[in-house]
Amino acid sequence: MPVTEAEVRRALEVVQDPDLHRDIVKLGFVQDVVIQDQHVSFRLVLTTPACPAREDLELQAKEAIMGLPGVESVAIEVTAQVRQRETKPEDLIPGVRQCIAIASGKGGVGKSTVAVNLAIALAQSGGRVGLLDADVYGPSAPQLLGLTTERPMTSSGKIIPLERYGIKAMSLGFLLEEGQAVLWRGPMVAGTVRQLLADVLWGDLDYLIVDLPPGTGDAPMSLAQLVPLTGVVVVSTPHTLAATIAGKATGLFERLDTPVMGVIENMGEWKCPHCGTGGRLFAGMPGEALAQTLGVPYLGSIPFDPATGAGDEVGSPIVVSAPNSHAAAAFRNVASALAAQISIQAHRKKAEEPTWATVENASR
Ligand SMILES: Nc1ncnc2c1ncn2[C@@H]1O[C@H](COP(=O)(O)OP(=O)(O)OP(=O)(O)O)[C@@H](O)[C@H]1O
Ligand SMILES: [Mg+2]
Repeated sequence: MPVTEAEVRRALEVVQDPDLHRDIVKLGFVQDVVIQDQHVSFRLVLTTPACPAREDLELQAKEAIMGLPGVESVAIEVTAQVRQRETKPEDLIPGVRQCIAIASGKGGVGKSTVAVNLAIALAQSGGRVGLLDADVYGPSAPQLLGLTTERPMTSSGKIIPLERYGIKAMSLGFLLEEGQAVLWRGPMVAGTVRQLLADVLWGDLDYLIVDLPPGTGDAPMSLAQLVPLTGVVVVSTPHTLAATIAGKATGLFERLDTPVMGVIENMGEWKCPHCGTGGRLFAGMPGEALAQTLGVPYLGSIPFDPATGAGDEVGSPIVVSAPNSHAAAAFRNVASALAAQISIQAHRKKAEEPTWATVENASR
């Protein structure tokens, strides 16, 4: 007797998602179960292609099914469907499922470097990713992506973002002449951020990563007010000053109702490429301690690495130029940790929505 679909589903209930703390059947991850004699196949639909537990979940699911009497083989197709963030009817970027801003208190802590490498790492894992350089004062995406001479085309009055290293990118730097300076006033910043969202053909994206200027000025404020952001990620170096200002920025975003998805430490550690020894670079507050103080998740640490800085200079991000390096691995780990936090938050929001059952109960 071949197994039944009910038996397959029951067997898979032992497999728990480590981040969402529920089993993969209740989470709706198990789809299209097909049973042919002794062969079982199904799709495992995760909430992010960058799921850190991807291989582990697949292995556990395989073992659970192979443990059923009468099953000889199992085939699992692992895919991902990123959840849609909360949108309003007049949303400026309705095709963007999750929109995450990369912020800092202090300038020069590595936001743009982190934003570019994270965006590419998410794309390398299979996501559809865009990068919006919202630093209107000092756009850096053209240089970091090696797109200083490129100009975007337009279609029906809308700007087509440039594409590089598997991501779509838009920056005011693509529109200005080299060396051209703009005297910015608050309302102009808001208008420009609006245009970079609404007048650009972003299309359908899983993640739009927004690189912000430092601090809590007009650009982050406008962005948070223009679109419902999934959340903001705070980058900090372990200098006490950077950490203190990061704390202030966090408070401000929370007041704007923008969840802080976590802290990324940059340039906290270094490792000698020759002998492998290393250590902490600064005596200040480590990112993990900062995250703890702020009561937000810690997403990981990006090491100080001259090759990362050199890659920025020539438009060749480290996750592309040296994918096997310690630094590239750190970026991929942080990207996975961020993707996991996004999934956790989307799941939490969904759990907060009243289900039909509770609505019915309430009306009784
Ligand atoms: N992990 C790293 N290792 C080595 N150099 C780095 C690293 N991260 C960033 N840098 C270098 O530090 C400098 C500042 O980085 P970046 O421009 O990304 O910071 P930022 O926070 O975006 O700055 P701003 O506040 O001006 O926007 C750059 O020269 C960059 O190449
Ligand atoms: Mg920057």
